Parts: sequence; structure tokens; C-alpha cells
Amino acid sequence: MIVVGGGLIGSAIAWRLAGAGRTVRMVVGEPGAAASRVAAGMLAPVTEISFTEQALLPLNLASLGRYETFAAEVAEASGLPTGLSRTPTISVAYDADDLARLTTLKEFLDRIGLKAERLVSRDARRLEPLLSPQVRGGLLVDADWSIDNRLLWAAIGAAGRRAGVAEVDGFVHHVRRSGTQVSGVTLADGTELDAAVVVVACGAWAGQLTGIDPLPVRPVKGQILRLDPRGLPQPSQTVRAITQGSEVYVVPRAGGREVVVGATVEEKGFDRGVTADGVYELLRDARRVLPMTAEYALAETTVGWRPGSPDNAPILGPGELDGLVLATGHYRNGVLLTPVTADAISAYVLTGELPEEARAFTLERFATSHPTPPSPPSPASSPPSSPTASPPTSSPPAPETVQL
Ligand code: GLY
Repeated sequence: MIVVGGGLIGSAIAWRLAGAGRTVRMVVGEPGAAASRVAAGMLAPVTEISFTEQALLPLNLASLGRYETFAAEVAEASGLPTGLSRTPTISVAYDADDLARLTTLKEFLDRIGLKAERLVSRDARRLEPLLSPQVRGGLLVDADWSIDNRLLWAAIGAAGRRAGVAEVDGFVHHVRRSGTQVSGVTLADGTELDAAVVVVACGAWAGQLTGIDPLPVRPVKGQILRLDPRGLPQPSQTVRAITQGSEVYVVPRAGGREVVVGATVEEKGFDRGVTADGVYELLRDARRVLPMTAEYALAETTVGWRPGSPDNAPILGPGELDGLVLATGHYRNGVLLTPVTADAISAYVLTGELPEEARAFTLERFATSHPTPPSPPSPASSPPSSPTASPPTSSPPAPETVQL
């Protein structure tokens, strides 16, 4: 079988399936561009919740509930650290209007049964002494953690290689078929790979695959910064803030190595530019609530693309062809949803049954009519021959990452 995409989601699926005895080739895509590298690594089902994306909450909570075991398993299988941090998240408001917004959020969280402790300014600063005295109040959210996504990604990749995953350099642009059965993929350089099962896990690029109906996945640009504290004090937990209507998050890494500040949310397709305005606003907002960040060195500016779907929830399970499996559209929650996605997709490939928790997230929810669903991947089937392919296109440009 082939896994298209070597980010966190693709690597975790490939690792699980290789561990179950499958022969897995993973086409890694453009690793420098993967959201898995760019992301801040928040595991935040509570503070990332949006009023319109409530249907996603059970899946997000299920995945967080698996994270400790998942990270321990990855560390054990790879011999590498994953950088899981179980310190809580503090979400703060900068001015009176921001506090009104945070209060609305708190009321929403109460209504749907999510725990967040209200903090007056003094208590927030006692918990996080680097917070500005200007901060008007906040929420303490025990359930929102973080992980060093770059460490985790490296560890899952190593675990996969140990389990036998074969990594293929290249960028898949075309899905090949034989009748109603998937038969493999074509890479941008024209290389054809045969497989009876193809798992699409290429994030924001899933919507560009040819040979199948276009998947409803769009790139949502995010600019993000990495700061080097240079030995200065750094926040002891993730700080999210609403500052004069704009939102920012500041995620420290253990050991004072780096502080991640993110992120813009821009519907600009695969625009790759780091802009002065994007960097300015992130630094301004971080400094408003954590003045110390102004003293840090600007170490890296990066652009990434979240895979957005029409409801910004993932697309999991059967695609339009027999043997075509989808694991994309994770939007703002790809790092968080990695364990539950890997479990659900590997179970689907191995048994033909999508676990209950993932059933609300199939592609079918976007269909206006309901054609006969394709059969699940067959454990015994072999790749059909005589595939056809469109001419290859070139792989996408790498995003701008500037090491400063
Ligand atoms: N999950 C954080 C972001 O998408 O910016």
C-alpha cells in the first residue's frame, strides 16, 4: 500500500500499518512545507474550539485522551523524545472588549461542559509572572497541552522506518485507477507506483490530486515565528491571548530552546510570502501580553498551509474508489488529531470498518446525492495493471522559511 504524504498524519498511519505487518511505501512530499513542521504543536481541544465547529469536539477530546499513551509508544518504538508537555494553557484578555469576548467563550465552554477556571488579572499574573499588568483577566485550561511537533514528527518517522516503512522521495499529483479500484499513484516526475490501497494524507495538497473528483480541501495560510529566548525567562506554559480583537498564541518549549508565536489565518491559497505585516502583528500581539518576548531574538519566520475542509473538520475513511482511503482536512487540529486519525485509518484499512468515533467525518457528509459507497480496502487484493495517468506537473514551491 501507499501513503501519500509524510507529515505527522501520514507517518503515524504508515507506522501503525507497517507495525500490523503491511508493506507500506510512504511518498513524503515536500517535508520543508509540511504543516507538521510549521505548526506550534498545541494540543488544544478547549482553547481552539470555535462556536461553529462543535461537532469536532468529541474527536478532539478522544485524541487528546490517547496522547500520553501514543507519545510513550512513539518514544519507545523510536528511542527518541517527543516533547509532550502537560502544563495547562492560560488564555488571557488584554482590554475590556477582549475580556468580554473571553467571557462569552467561558459561557460557551460552560454550556458544552468544558472546564476552564476564570482568573482575575492578579491570579493570571501569579500563574504566569511574565504576563503584562495590562492583562484584564483570563482562563486557566488544564486540558490543553502542547507537544514539540518537530520532535514528535522525527520520532514517528524513525519508528516507522524501524517498523519497515519505505520512504519514497517525491510528490504525488495523480491517483491512478482501474475501473472503480484504485491502482496506484503517479509522482510529479512521472514515476508510477502500483498499489491496491492508497491513503491520501497529504494535508493541504489533497485538493490538488488529479484522477479523482477534487477533494474539498483548501490551503489556509499561516505565518508563524520562532523566537530564541537567549537565556532570558520564558513563559512556563502556553499563553493564548485576545489583544484588541486579534488573537495570538505563544508556546514555549521545555529547556528554554524556543518560543513559538503564531499564527496568521489567511485565505490566500498557496501564497508563500512572509509579510512584514504578518510578522509585525504577531510580535506586537505577543509583546502586548508578554513584554519579555520583545527581548528575544527572532530566529525563524515560516509559512505553512492548514488543510481546511468545508466544515473545517477532517475527512476520514473511504474515498470514491475501492481502496482509496482519506485522512486529510485536519485544518487547525492536525497535531492534536494524529493519534485518533492513525488509529481510525489503520483500523479501516485492516478491517474494512471505520471506528465509531470517525464515522461522522467521511467524505460522504459533503455529498449532495448518495452514490453507492465504495467497498473497503481488501487485505488480499493485488494492484490491477494497465493504469493510465495524466501528464505530471511540477511539485509545489517550498514555503519561505527564513533562518534569522
Ligand atoms: N492550531 C493552531 C493554528 O492553526 O494556528
